Amino acid sequence: MTKKFYITTPIYYANSVPHIGSVYTTIAADAIARWNKLLGKDVFFLTGTDEHGQKIQESAEKENKDPKIFVDEISKKFKEVFKTLDISNNNFVRTTDKYHEKEVKEILQKLYDKKLIYKGEYESSYCVGCEQYLTKSDLVDRKCPLHKKEPEIRKEESYMFKLSSFQDELYDLIKSGKFEILPMTKRNEVLSFIRGGLQDISISRLKKKVSWGIELPFDKDHTCFVWVDAFWNYISGLKKEKKYWPVDVQLMAKDILRVHATIWPALLLALGKKLPKTLFIHGFFTVNGEKMGKSLGNVLDPVYLSGTYGVDSLRYHLLKNIPFGDDGDFNEIKLKNSLNNELANDLGNLVSRTLTLCEKYFDGKLSKCKNDGLFKELDLGKVEKYMSNFEIHFALEEIWKFIRSSNKYINEKEPWKNEKNRDIVLYNLLESLRVISILIQPFIPSGVEKINKQLGVKLGNIKDVKFGLVNNYKIKKEGVLFKKIE
Ligand code: MSP
Repeated sequence: MTKKFYITTPIYYANSVPHIGSVYTTIAADAIARWNKLLGKDVFFLTGTDEHGQKIQESAEKENKDPKIFVDEISKKFKEVFKTLDISNNNFVRTTDKYHEKEVKEILQKLYDKKLIYKGEYESSYCVGCEQYLTKSDLVDRKCPLHKKEPEIRKEESYMFKLSSFQDELYDLIKSGKFEILPMTKRNEVLSFIRGGLQDISISRLKKKVSWGIELPFDKDHTCFVWVDAFWNYISGLKKEKKYWPVDVQLMAKDILRVHATIWPALLLALGKKLPKTLFIHGFFTVNGEKMGKSLGNVLDPVYLSGTYGVDSLRYHLLKNIPFGDDGDFNEIKLKNSLNNELANDLGNLVSRTLTLCEKYFDGKLSKCKNDGLFKELDLGKVEKYMSNFEIHFALEEIWKFIRSSNKYINEKEPWKNEKNRDIVLYNLLESLRVISILIQPFIPSGVEKINKQLGVKLGNIKDVKFGLVNNYKIKKEGVLFKKIE
């Protein structure tokens, strides 16, 4: 039976257009989704937009727009940008979608019937920028360190969710690894936070204050707290494909780990649902050490960057040169260097030299020859191991080692000079290009399409990563794969 693989990104606030930080998680998720497809798994990949709550309501008000019209415009932008970036998501969920709202109302009612939601009053510090409650220890100079604003003090009638009842169960599930949080440093942070005690949380706002939200089915004067609504996207977004639940991996940056490691699994436990298998937490893109984000206004535009340097270059650079899991400072010069050196020089030249020689000496037609040992340089096991540990940057480095070995091989064999064994050398190189294109497809899908077209082969899967599968090549060289920018 084919193994299933379900991966999600956070859903992005529809309060402003996507920036390079918000597309980063989606590009990484896309690479992991495509990789798992190569492994032969049945993949479901979900992304989308988070469209309710005070933050969106206020953003729409500022622009004098009806909130629905406002979020329609922004979510359309997200869809367009993801399409431009070759994102292969199976669904794009919007929390204003009717099927989503219906499911959220159903679960709220269930929780209320189970007496896990009760009417109370709460007072706490709330950062609208984060749409999260902050504790005293989160604040720096009484301000939210991410948004540089003092949180609001909130005291009002509200429905509460009994988060505190799940404290011990959650602690054990995380500690035992049954609910895995990676990397380990993040798991430990969560454990120590839970050990400090979980309080019941408010899950509603008075409608007269926050009208832009899903109405509670049991009290029309309240709307649902945006996070409860948002979390459910991970299940509602599967629509009729609930067989993919539980999710295999959920990617996100560290700003939203705590809620994902407490409120989210507690809701699932409360509803008798299975928990996600793994949360993988990556770092922040920073500009001068500050998180890149809409609220701070220091964002870089993915449309400009992909338009200038190419979609593949942007995807490649983000995945290869920023270690997945760590913070990384984004820098346009490094992006340009990745394009010029790793894509145009290493990969582009290998393709161009090999195909030019095949056309020149064999009219583009080459039949199967013996294995000349080049494939010894490829360690597929390592690439697979890195990808299963979400060490995307190491996996790419390992593949690039093979690209560099192939360049070394062509330099040493000098098939432009040496007539003897020329067919063997070029056949080995064509096979190396075929295998490289399978391995890099998850990261730079559009470049790979161009390579395969020139090789005259179809993309295979991981089983085809071996020497000697093609009996007869008939290649046709086309233009430059990656144009350098000086
Ligand atoms: N809407 C909530 C998530 C709800 S999920 C049920 C939210 N949205 S967000 O748009 O503010 O950010 C979501 C995610 O975008 C972050 O967790 C992270 O994955 C990504 N990033 C946003 N800015 C980023 C950086 N500067 N760097 C890296 N990732 C960033 O929170």
